[in-house]
Amino acid sequence: MTRHFLSLLDLSHDELQSLIRRASELKRMQHRGEIHTPLKGKNLGMVFEKSSTRTRVSFEVGMSQLGGHALFLSPRDTQLGRGEPIEDSAKVLSRMLDIIMIRTFEQEKLELFAAHSQVPVINALTDRYHPCQLLADMQTYAEHRGNIQGKTVTWVGDGNNMCHSYLNAARQFDFHLNIACPEGYDPEPDILEAAGERAKIIRDPLEAASGADLVVTDVWASMGQEEEQALREKAFSKYQVNDELMAQAEKDALFFHCLPAHRGEEVTASVIDTPDSVVWDEAENRLHSQKALMEFLLLGR
Ligand code: CP
Ligand code: NVA
Repeated sequence: MTRHFLSLLDLSHDELQSLIRRASELKRMQHRGEIHTPLKGKNLGMVFEKSSTRTRVSFEVGMSQLGGHALFLSPRDTQLGRGEPIEDSAKVLSRMLDIIMIRTFEQEKLELFAAHSQVPVINALTDRYHPCQLLADMQTYAEHRGNIQGKTVTWVGDGNNMCHSYLNAARQFDFHLNIACPEGYDPEPDILEAAGERAKIIRDPLEAASGADLVVTDVWASMGQEEEQALREKAFSKYQVNDELMAQAEKDALFFHCLPAHRGEEVTASVIDTPDSVVWDEAENRLHSQKALMEFLLLGR
């Protein structure tokens, strides 16, 4: 059966745990300069309908390090951008490629593609989820602080694709999630409810950050919401991760940001640019965790 990775819920708790352990192992191997090419002859298609720095480079370099090849497919110069049906594109691309990652707007579009693909499909960000980022985030937490089970994570900002993926992660990794978002910017009710007791909305960001082991934020306006920037700057002005907010958290609390960051908006430079900031490890781990993901989906281990 073809396995896809359209959200964090597509893998079991145990599969996610071993994938993250494998990601750290692949990282150590890479840092030692070991050559590991189990995906020789395999081809990854990368469909990007939105911009990307980290996702594109980590998938392309990751596939190359594993001995395979990656192709960048932009809607601007493929028939995808000229209205060829998703179903047809999925059937054709999956007869030529071994694995496909897609960054697009609607989760439904990704699901439709996956339903017609013979090969594994990976969600490289939609408006609903960003599960690849959570693999890197969970790897980064484990590397710096150990098991996240039972810990308190505070999400500050928009109830967006990253917040939704944190809600799924709270279920899969069994942590508490406090969500500090302004009214009108809550996560989707179905995703919030599915997290049950593990997640709650706390409007006051300082209260939400109290006792946190990990504080996470993201941009106020995501890709596709550029025209709402001014409106969102007003709505989110109190939802900034700054020194005052971090002072509410545990002394050794980590700060995560998927990047790109807007200093002076959702986070201050004093928080993100400290010498012990782990956001650069978090970004690097996109490479290692996605290598582990591709190994898992293609080789079943
Ligand atoms: N965090 C992340 O997905 O970054 P890019 O948009 O640069 O891929
Ligand atoms: N929420 C952001 C994440 C970018 C990696 C966006 O969707 O633009």
